[in-house]
Amino acid sequence: EFTVSLARRGLSVPVPAGATILETLRGEGIEPDVSCEQGVCGTCLTTVLEGQIDHRDYFLSAHDHKAGDRMLICVSRGKPGTTLVLDL
Ligand code: FES
Repeated sequence: EFTVSLARRGLSVPVPAGATILETLRGEGIEPDVSCEQGVCGTCLTTVLEGQIDHRDYFLSAHDHKAGDRMLICVSRGKPGTTLVLDL
């Protein structure tokens, strides 16, 4: 489990091990733009303001992964026990 903090909404929600960030946001009534939901298309690309990303997509380059300032929220996660601050 990790936590996502939505900077624009002032909301923090825990993301359980079995759920994606996308599913968790939907549970809060938030509907981000998505398409493939498999980490392939790039539609759900989200700016990360703070935190350590566990990248699991096939869209961003290795260079992008290293930069750590954007993520695909349909598949990628935060490191367990940490908080990701998203520009949402
Ligand atoms: Fe396609 Fe997330 S919806 S990469």
